[in-house]
Amino acid sequence: MRTRFIIGNWKMNKTATEAVAFVRRLSEEVTALDGIQAGFAPPFTALHAAGEALGTASPFLLGAQNIYWEDKGAFTGEISGPMLKGLGCQFVLVGHSERRQYFGEQDSWTNKKVLAALRNGIQPILCVGETLQDRDTEQTDLVIQRQLRAGLAGIEGQTLATMTIAYEPVWAIGTGRAASPEQAVPVHRLIRQTLNELGGSSEAGRRVRILYGGSVTPQNIADFLASEEIDGALVGGACLDPVSFATLIKVASGSNPTKA
Ligand code: PGA
Repeated sequence: MRTRFIIGNWKMNKTATEAVAFVRRLSEEVTALDGIQAGFAPPFTALHAAGEALGTASPFLLGAQNIYWEDKGAFTGEISGPMLKGLGCQFVLVGHSERRQYFGEQDSWTNKKVLAALRNGIQPILCVGETLQDRDTEQTDLVIQRQLRAGLAGIEGQTLATMTIAYEPVWAIGTGRAASPEQAVPVHRLIRQTLNELGGSSEAGRRVRILYGGSVTPQNIADFLASEEIDGALVGGACLDPVSFATLIKVASGSNPTKA
């Protein structure tokens, strides 16, 4: 059984002071997580403050939005796995489409970042997704498979099965135009099938959590989670307000079939 996972991606929003206010409000709204996992990824500059505000007893996971693949050295401006681990990061987003689109992130980099996260005991969340042009020219399957095969190169067996993938169609991110579950579910199936091919058995496809991302809101989250293919959500805009994020988490735990 795959445990649902809701992740908030703050992107380039909130100062350290704002992060503390967010955590306080969220912790009032959600005191325990029932049968699901949830976490959020502040910018690097707010990780310490957010971690301190969460404290050690919080049910929320703390994550980062990016990682560099070397552990230390002359790489001005980069942040490494040991640095994130030292701040209490438990997961890290890798290959978010904004990194790919605006910062030239290559498939080969995502692989090095996934490996760096694993090496440092941080759970990588590999983000994949097609552009509108890819979808319009029926390249979606090819693009998703390429991103998966490249990003997960050299990752096998048990390790592959512990991965989390976020499927985020680029055209649905920040546009208010979420994919319909009918559009998302076939891609989630393709991702599972590709994972099985990579792992050489059905284990990875059975165990890997695949989240949907792209204009997820408290209003539409239940529609996505109604499919057994969709194990959670990566949320941008709707995670910035603590009450909205809390509502989303409550809907996700309330509609959890494992609790029925
Ligand atoms: P959005 O962003 O929810 O604002 O569409 C999702 C994401 O980029 O992870």
